[in-house]
Amino acid sequence: MLINICIGSACHLKGSYNVITEIQQLMEEDSYGSQIELKSVFCLGHCQSGVSVQIDDEPTIYSVTKESVKDFYYNTVIPKLKGEL
Ligand code: FES
Repeated sequence: MLINICIGSACHLKGSYNVITEIQQLMEEDSYGSQIELKSVFCLGHCQSGVSVQIDDEPTIYSVTKESVKDFYYNTVIPKLKGEL
């Protein structure tokens, strides 16, 4: 699974760096982490939302913050990896 995290200027200001480091931490603590690749990308076209995150080439753009990144990881990323979503 490829997780694209926007580091465009709007998302950068909303904390892209924090979201990236939080996800990296969760991946290290989790056995599924090795199945995930993180990629920094430029503007995903949803600058009004939080930090924009896209999984693989899905059309959905998730809005993730430092506060919601754990919830995103365990309730979206992991279930998708397991094929539950
Ligand atoms: S800067 Fe991140 S979606 Fe535009």
